[in-house]
Amino acid sequence: MTGNEIRKKFIDFFIKHNHKLFPSSSLVPDDPTLLFTTAGMVQMMPYLLRQEDVSKNPRACSVQKSFRTTDIDDIGNDGRHLTFFEMLGSWSFGDYYKEEAISLALELLVKEFGLSKGRIWATVFAGDNKISEDIESYNHWISVGLPKERIIKLGWKDNFWGPPGLEGPCGPSTEIYYDMGKEVGCGKETCAPGCDCDRFIEVWNAGVFMEYYKDVTGNYSKLPYTNVDTGAGLERMAALLQGKNSVFETDLFSPIIKRIEHVSGKSYSDYKRQMNIIADHIKASAFLIVDGTFPSNLHRGYVLRRLIRRSMIQIYAMNLPMDNNVINATVDAISDIYGADYKEISQNKGSVKSILDNEIKGFTKVLSRSFKILDKVVKDNKISGENMFLLHDTYGLNIEILKDILTSKNISFDEKGFVDLMRVQKSKSKMHSSFTLGKEIEVEYGELPKTQFLGYLDLTVPGESKVLKVVDMQNFVSFVLDKTSFYAESGGQVGDVGKVLGHNIIVNVKSVRKTKSGVFVHFGEYEPGSGKLKPGDIVSPIVDKVVREKISHNHTAVHLLSAALKRTLSIEIIQKGSFVDKDRLRFDFSFDRPLTDDEIKSVEDIVNSEIKKGDKIEIIETSLDEARRMGVTLAFEDRYTNDVRIIKIGDFSMELCGGTHFGFTSDLGNFKVDKQESVGRGIRRIRASLS
Ligand code: ALA
Repeated sequence: MTGNEIRKKFIDFFIKHNHKLFPSSSLVPDDPTLLFTTAGMVQMMPYLLRQEDVSKNPRACSVQKSFRTTDIDDIGNDGRHLTFFEMLGSWSFGDYYKEEAISLALELLVKEFGLSKGRIWATVFAGDNKISEDIESYNHWISVGLPKERIIKLGWKDNFWGPPGLEGPCGPSTEIYYDMGKEVGCGKETCAPGCDCDRFIEVWNAGVFMEYYKDVTGNYSKLPYTNVDTGAGLERMAALLQGKNSVFETDLFSPIIKRIEHVSGKSYSDYKRQMNIIADHIKASAFLIVDGTFPSNLHRGYVLRRLIRRSMIQIYAMNLPMDNNVINATVDAISDIYGADYKEISQNKGSVKSILDNEIKGFTKVLSRSFKILDKVVKDNKISGENMFLLHDTYGLNIEILKDILTSKNISFDEKGFVDLMRVQKSKSKMHSSFTLGKEIEVEYGELPKTQFLGYLDLTVPGESKVLKVVDMQNFVSFVLDKTSFYAESGGQVGDVGKVLGHNIIVNVKSVRKTKSGVFVHFGEYEPGSGKLKPGDIVSPIVDKVVREKISHNHTAVHLLSAALKRTLSIEIIQKGSFVDKDRLRFDFSFDRPLTDDEIKSVEDIVNSEIKKGDKIEIIETSLDEARRMGVTLAFEDRYTNDVRIIKIGDFSMELCGGTHFGFTSDLGNFKVDKQESVGRGIRRIRASLS
């Protein structure tokens, strides 16, 4: 069965059983606390938490593009681990539970995929004093005919899943393993799922039974409803159904490997590890790029950069020229395999290649310089911690990449010595991270004149803004205008989204940030067919009004929440942070215990009654001294300049704030606290929303 056939069979099976098909979501999730989409359940979060109505569609399925870095160092060494993979997933949101989940999984594997029931094993959660054993799943396995010798009870590591981020739904799971036969693996009598050897292949996490919520402090509380969340890696399933020992031998990889063999003139049997890494990493890179990730030294961009650089190191290890031939051929093969099901790959093949090419060129320079130094400092195939530090600190070679190079050349290294030196340096300079986005935009745009922000009053400035600087990356662009109506992320409020129009030019602005000196940097993507921005162009910024309104209302609600907390708890509220976007608001403040249900209710009532009053939200622009005289609380006093804005809401709230408030409180709708939690000693967080 080909990979494409497996995908289709899986979906058809669950649709037949009344599951609604969800298309794959992006590898870059909406949840800012999560680096990448690591499982099918990420896009299901609103349903799993009942933030969305599940009554019409209580069952779902998907084939989700997923990416995990946890196993990055194992890739290429065995035939099981990958960074990018497709997850076949199915869900029940409070509909069926353990019994039907287990029956469905077994039916699909045996009847549709033709696996032998006699070789299927299952694992279930063994439980401990914190969360009890999953006896129901054990009994269901018995009732569908699995002998008890083939049902293994394992602990948290194997049979408790989630949440993928810091907090969220999670629960005990039951996993299905396939026995590849006694002759494969360690041969021990005791060998069973959970053993390190290759005999038992994990084919399906056939049900995470999500009945708990883990909060940021690590506490588990029982959810008032249940969910089933399943996930199976398509590539591993393909290996099993195609009778292959390795995912790299399936039809989802072998055409890539063949193409690499062809252009490199090297054979897979000599360079298995290297070719596996290139195929995996470039596939992941292509999918990350088309979902809007760029190579950089930060966050998601850094992970992408590392994948590309690790691929280049393999090319080097194969004694090939450091050019883009192998990488380009790899991208072509990926597009052939995935282009039909993932149009974003075939349509953006050219952009992917040129972004990769750019990285390859940059990295080749870094590498050749580093190799010269390595030649001098490596003695007896060893490198000291001091010299690693030198390469890192003076020559700017990223330590992970340096370790990759050393490993590829079989050079042993003193990691502890290196880490000790890093620690000394860090404490000396008190510098926690040498690259932050802040720094990057400071370097790129810091010299420009301060941007004039017109967006408190005007959401569009037709034909008056001049482009001062542009940095293009294929379809993506970052740029600065002399004046703009886009709000830049600050004070806990996200940047605006919208469009910038020029002559034959349309840029969709996705985010806006500002430098310390107040230069607003717009980040966006060109509309297909659009011309490119150039310095000197005159353009019209147009902020998305609907999104701006939602963000502004949430921000105003934060002020109301802060005032309501002060009244309810009868204390001065010390704000520790806040965040608002179009969908939600979050407020952190100093307080040393959870609020009671009555206190939460009182906060909600106070905010809602203030909303009902319909007070005008007044903006007063004045001096810091005058603000002090008016009695405004100055939370972050040292951050304010002399010109300040006061946001005054009736007699209820008065705060200094640079955010975009407007209108009347009655515009806000209904206010509701969604959750309270602790985010560190003595700091409480309230999450709330308007509807
Ligand atoms: N979310 C579960 C997993 O990723 C199904 O294994």
